[in-house]
Amino acid sequence: MKLDYRYYKTIDSTNLEIKRLFQQGASEGTIASAGTQIAGRGRTGHSWKSPEDVSVATSLLLTPPEDFPMDRIPRLTVLAAMSVVRSVEELYHLDCGIKWPNDILIGKRKICGILTEMEAQKGHVRYVVVGIGVNVHQQPEDFAPEISDMATSLDIELMKQNPHRRDLRAGRKAVIEGIWKNFTEIYRVFLETEGSLEGIREEYNRHLVNRNERVRILDPAGEYEAKAIGMARDGSLEIQLDDGRTKLVDSGEVHVRGLYGYA
Ligand code: BTN
Repeated sequence: MKLDYRYYKTIDSTNLEIKRLFQQGASEGTIASAGTQIAGRGRTGHSWKSPEDVSVATSLLLTPPEDFPMDRIPRLTVLAAMSVVRSVEELYHLDCGIKWPNDILIGKRKICGILTEMEAQKGHVRYVVVGIGVNVHQQPEDFAPEISDMATSLDIELMKQNPHRRDLRAGRKAVIEGIWKNFTEIYRVFLETEGSLEGIREEYNRHLVNRNERVRILDPAGEYEAKAIGMARDGSLEIQLDDGRTKLVDSGEVHVRGLYGYA
């Protein structure tokens, strides 16, 4: 896939920009990144803060083949999570964890969020936008009080790991390019295998936080506790209930929390 990078100093949302570019004829591989988003979108209708020039907000346009099974599109979020983890570990040697399905953590604090959106028509996917936000240069006081004990940035973590190197800073361009280079490699295999996650499942599960630990399942039908086993072949989370039975839970239906807070 040929990557076509576009940069905006300020934009409403890079996901929205990719949708507009698609309508104007842009092709797969088009990437919109911004210094700041004034209407950044998060999952479940939340907003996503991308304050000026301190974070990465980047989105990629994909047009999967017409016959690609639509029910496998949500798995792209798992590919995106793996791409971020690989890039942060390659570039900065910071150990990342994944909170299923797609929050990236360092030391149990969130460093990245991913929002995948698609448009379908007559049972076919027209396009998919994979949007990724990474906290890069924020300092602890930059996070809003309600998220300050759940969030971190690459610079904060670099400083923690290298207290004697005050000059160390992450780079937004390097992060963006690293993520999409890794993503295109993983996506190629994903398409070749008709949407299988087997190429990355083991690596993903090695990074899964709460693996083999008790978690709280926030099911709209009623919350309960279980043991998290790992991401299953279809991208769902396999859990073990207290009576020993195993069960798959879907990210569209439930949220998972650690027993003592967000992760
Ligand atoms: C989440 O809620 O965790 C997902 C956040 C996704 C944010 C990214 S930033 C780039 C892209 N543009 C958006 O408006 N949202 C995504």
